[in-house]
Amino acid sequence: MPDLKIALIGGSGIYTYSIAGETEELVVETRYGKAQLQRGKTGDREIYFLARHGTGHTKPPHLVNYRANIAALKKLGVEAVLSTAAVGSLHRHILPGSWVVIDQFIDFTKSRPVTFYDGSDGRVVHVDFTEPYCPELRRALLRAGEQIRRPLLDGGCYVCTEGPRFETPAEIKAFNRLGGDVVGMTNVPEVVLAREAGLCYAALALVTNYGAGISEKMLTHEEVLEMMEESREELNRLLMAAVEEISAVRSCRCSLPGRYWPEAE
Ligand code: HPA
Repeated sequence: MPDLKIALIGGSGIYTYSIAGETEELVVETRYGKAQLQRGKTGDREIYFLARHGTGHTKPPHLVNYRANIAALKKLGVEAVLSTAAVGSLHRHILPGSWVVIDQFIDFTKSRPVTFYDGSDGRVVHVDFTEPYCPELRRALLRAGEQIRRPLLDGGCYVCTEGPRFETPAEIKAFNRLGGDVVGMTNVPEVVLAREAGLCYAALALVTNYGAGISEKMLTHEEVLEMMEESREELNRLLMAAVEEISAVRSCRCSLPGRYWPEAE
C-alpha cells in the first residue's frame, strides 16, 4: 500500500494527539501565514496533528488562520483530514456526550476569509458542495466507532456561527427549525478550504452541551473544555482506529477541485 499522509485537526480541548513512536514539531510557511504541526508515523501512515486554536488555545474561532492551516497540509502532501469540533446540541434527543459524524453544514459566519479563490488572481472558481464531507472518511470514522464500540451518530447538520459568543435561545430555536442538528464556530471555512484544496475531509462533532435555552443552564467555555478533557482518551482511540481504516486508494471525488490549486503553491 502506498504511503498516505493524514492530518488530524484538534478542536477545543484537543491540543496534542498521542501518536505512537517519535514525533517532531514543524512550522510550515504558506502565503497565508504559518502553521505549527506535529508529525509522527503509524505503520505506513504519516500523521500530522494540528491544534486548530493553537497549542495554548490562543486563537478564537474567528481568528484561526484556516487558510494557512489547510494550505500547509496541502504543501505537506496530506490527502486526508479528520477533524474534531466541540458543538452544542440543537435537539433534546442529541444528548451531551454524543458524537456526530456530520454530513451537512449551514454557514452563518460573517467576517472570515472563506475561500482560497478570492478572485485576486483573476480566476472565478465555484466548487460543488452537494456532498460537503468525504464519504470515505466518514465511513472510516463510523467503522472506527464500531471497532472501539463507541456509538456515533451517522449524519447531522452543523450550523457554523461567527462566535466567539455563544448563541441566544432564539438563535438556537431558529437553527433547529432551519434543519440544523449541532452548532459550533469552526467547521466553516475549514471544510470549505479543504475541499477547495482537493483534500478529503470529515469532521467529528463532539456534543459538549445543549444549545442555549434547551436546558436552563448558562454556558461556559470551561464546561466545554471539561467535557472535551473527559473524552480525550476515547477520542484518541477512535482517531487511531479511523486512521487505520482509511483506504490509501481514493475513490471519492474530493480531489477534483484540486485541479484549480495553483502550481506555484
Ligand atoms: N455553541 C457554539 N459553539 C459551541 C457550543 C455551543 O453551544 N458548544 C461547544 N461549542
